[in-house]
Amino acid sequence: MTTYRIGVIGLGQRIAHVLAAMQEVGWNLDIVGHVDPAPVGAPILAAAGLRLGRAFETPAAMMAAGPFDLLMLGAPNHLHFEHLAFALGTGVPIFAEKPIVRTTDETMALTRRLAAGGTPPVYVGLVMRSLPIVREVLARVDGGALGQVVSIDATEHLPPEHGGYLARNWRRKQAWGGSYFLDKVVHDFDIFGRIAGARPDRVASFGGRRIFTAERQDPPRAWEDGSAAYALQDAGWAGANDAFQSDMDVTDHQVAMVEYANDVRLSFHANSHTALTERRWYVAGTDGTLIADLVRNRLMARRALNRGKPERIDYGGVTADAHNGADQAMALDLLAALEGRAAFPVTPYESMEAGLTVMAIDQAMTARQVVECAPMWARYDAAASGVDEGGAEVVL
Ligand SMILES: NC(=O)c1ccc[n+]([C@@H]2O[C@H](COP(=O)([O-])OP(=O)(O)OC[C@H]3O[C@@H](n4cnc5c(N)ncnc54)[C@H](O)[C@@H]3O)[C@@H](O)[C@H]2O)c1
Repeated sequence: MTTYRIGVIGLGQRIAHVLAAMQEVGWNLDIVGHVDPAPVGAPILAAAGLRLGRAFETPAAMMAAGPFDLLMLGAPNHLHFEHLAFALGTGVPIFAEKPIVRTTDETMALTRRLAAGGTPPVYVGLVMRSLPIVREVLARVDGGALGQVVSIDATEHLPPEHGGYLARNWRRKQAWGGSYFLDKVVHDFDIFGRIAGARPDRVASFGGRRIFTAERQDPPRAWEDGSAAYALQDAGWAGANDAFQSDMDVTDHQVAMVEYANDVRLSFHANSHTALTERRWYVAGTDGTLIADLVRNRLMARRALNRGKPERIDYGGVTADAHNGADQAMALDLLAALEGRAAFPVTPYESMEAGLTVMAIDQAMTARQVVECAPMWARYDAAASGVDEGGAEVVL
């Protein structure tokens, strides 16, 4: 079996978990080197019995130690564009973490670059695409089991420790993470667009920070057994000490509404500090309804005119990291894609469209207005068709 020579740019928790999952499902890995000022993922790799490889100052210095079979990009989101720009020029296949880029200008520049051709394959870590439950949802929607999809209701409610981590980690700052939604739920909006089968026409959103704020008078900081809350995880690169006293400028709860071009309508509710966690998609079609419970890894479905018991599929394999085996499934998809056995389940274009959707939602929230998405898609389509719009934006 081929041994894959891998170079990593941004060896944080995420890439370390993905590498560990790759090893677990049978990849032969040789982590040749990494570029990272202080690799947060080192203990995760050590626990998996994987070596870090050589530390390089710059991506260019690492490339000199090639050849490579795969470059893996996992730095904070504001660095994705720069690292992709470099990696695309190397010709080596790329695994890039989501969100693929952080701003609309970066999206347009990346679209133009990919549309121009001559780039290596880019596999984006929208890991939910690899989950068996998600594949089943998409297969049912595509196969017409629900009839025409009419409306969707969805949630993502995180436990307090997770929210506290987001409030201390680099994700707390727009300049690094983009936004709460862009970093956390771009996965979900990727799937919603796929379920709807259309792009959003208009979006609305409200959100803010009412949990992790310095204005709260003495928020409780201990669990019922007296153990310290909000302190479990090392906050990592550019981390802050305190979840309530940080310089956070992203939301900690947010709601959004989307009307897709084919009149599918969606509402979404996210909160980063809840006592009853949930990640749930409720998809209602003309002929049937399904609920995908992503926390419990359980699917429920019934035809509209059926009074029998709903069908339930329990996928099991629920894991503490809430990924429920998705990383291992994605590791197999990545291997199959590199070996030319199957297409990777998500394309860079789909990744960019999910990112643009979330960016429009955030724009609506900031402006407190419904945002019409047509101009954004026109700009994106122009970029994809290679039309130079002469804007003074980022060049790749
Ligand atoms: N697909 C998923 O389910 C999933 C889950 C978690 C994170 N992510 C994504 O993975 C990426 C990393 O997140 P994380 O949780 O691992 O963060 P992290 O903080 O654990 O790791 C980020 C790493 O980037 C390094 N870094 C900082 N500046 C750098 C630079 N200039 N060059 C190279 N490395 C640099 C840091 O030292 C750190 O080791 C993010 O884009 C995040 O959105 C995806």
